[in-house]
Amino acid sequence: MARKLYRERSAKGNWIFVHRSARLATRDAREIGAMPPATLPAKQPLNPARRIVTAFIALVAGAAGLRVGIGHAAAADVPEPLWAYGFLTPPAPGDKATPQGLPSRKLRPNEDPAEQTRIRHVAGSDAGYSLVDIRDLSNVIDWFPGDHPRMTHVIAHGSPSLGNAARGCASCHLPTGKGRPENAPVSGLPVAYFIRQLEDFRNGLRSTVDPRKPNTPTMIALAKGMTAEEMKEAAEYFGAMPWTPWTRVVETEQVPKTRIVGNLHQEIEGAGTEPIAGRIVEMPETEEQTEKLRNPRVGFVAYVPVGSIKKGENLVTTGGMSVADGKIVPGRTVACGTCHGPDLMGLADVPGIAGRSPSYLVRQIYDMQRGTRKGVSAALMQPVVVNLTGDDMVAIAAYVTSLAATKSPPR
Ligand code: HEC
Ligand code: HEC
Repeated sequence: MARKLYRERSAKGNWIFVHRSARLATRDAREIGAMPPATLPAKQPLNPARRIVTAFIALVAGAAGLRVGIGHAAAADVPEPLWAYGFLTPPAPGDKATPQGLPSRKLRPNEDPAEQTRIRHVAGSDAGYSLVDIRDLSNVIDWFPGDHPRMTHVIAHGSPSLGNAARGCASCHLPTGKGRPENAPVSGLPVAYFIRQLEDFRNGLRSTVDPRKPNTPTMIALAKGMTAEEMKEAAEYFGAMPWTPWTRVVETEQVPKTRIVGNLHQEIEGAGTEPIAGRIVEMPETEEQTEKLRNPRVGFVAYVPVGSIKKGENLVTTGGMSVADGKIVPGRTVACGTCHGPDLMGLADVPGIAGRSPSYLVRQIYDMQRGTRKGVSAALMQPVVVNLTGDDMVAIAAYVTSLAATKSPPR
């Protein structure tokens, strides 16, 4: 059946072909405040292949928007998934992030110099670093230089334009780009997507819902300090590494009791367990290796509620559609594979999500639902996130993280 296509200007200023339903979805997205004003300057002209993919995705988004947009109230009252942001209690009015300290090798008054400067080792590495070296964020340590391409200046030391506030990208995201639950997994991302995120951070289109979270403002400041060349260099460095598993997923009723340090859950040794209570609790495999020594070969474990992986599989693969009394009942979301690729490893400039930190994934989904992540391309996610409940987000992340990386992402 032939469908009438309309030609219209995308928010990036390129001509795209869209079906009528996509135009409606765009309008809906704008009404709920998800779309930035359509006057952004055209920063990166699309090449013809990407233009087709973009138009195709607009079609899918449009159809999806119509399907899930009707008869559902927007899930505006989903409480903040505090576990994903690394807090125990909701923010109070006026709460603000304490700005992160500048990178420094100075000892703090309560620190034992001998302990801080003692050289440490990790299995399989010839390198040796002290705790002072490990926290020197403008000279990133490198336990396994053979595990990644040669770090460039911005990756190891940060952008010189930021002076003593410069931080190497690898200080938070690790030289392997695997990242940590409180920041982001950045390896294996499409170069165009990576650069778009840096642009969104610097243009005020991407921030975090929780006003107390300190490292997102740092990320925004770093993006603002980068040159176009440094952005490309960083995108190519991390993009050259395929995504491989980094977070082990375990379904369980009980989780180790944790404390939160730097927005990261860490086990309280010997304190026993407590009910998981509908959360995901993601923590270092071992505090000594993953956290203290920043060993990039020892990752994270995510405890997820029993049954969540199966529930998530249904939402991710069908959008949560079901059959009742011989009729199709539409679900609360849209199957992810159409845009993220059948194996969720990414498609064109849409990022891979398979096997990535569930805390990170849920923060992004919630940020998009609440509209603090509102870049032009994030609008395509509106029909996906608008009706999700907190439990849906947990289930989706449990399943998506449990997927093994299957192949290299698109280049
Ligand atoms: C202080 C720690 C920190 C440093 C250093 C840092 N980042 Fe980030 N980065 C973050 C955080 C935190 C996020 C995710 C924000 C959130 O969840 O709200 C992020 C997210 C990103 C993303 C988005 C990933 C995605 O999947 O959308 C990119 C791209 C990125 N960072 C690139 C960089 C580059 C390039 C550098 C070096 C110039 C850098 N980062 C240095 C903390 C950091
Ligand atoms: C209509 C296309 C489309 C569908 C369907 C879709 N996504 Fe997305 N998604 C996107 C695009 C495009 C982006 C990148 C947005 C940007 O560039 O800011 C994205 C980004 C994301 C991100 C942020 C990734 C990161 O690295 O920060 C997450 C998480 C995500 N999607 C999850 C999902 C899940 C889960 C589903 C299915 C339930 C889904 N998406 C379905 C298009 C889609």
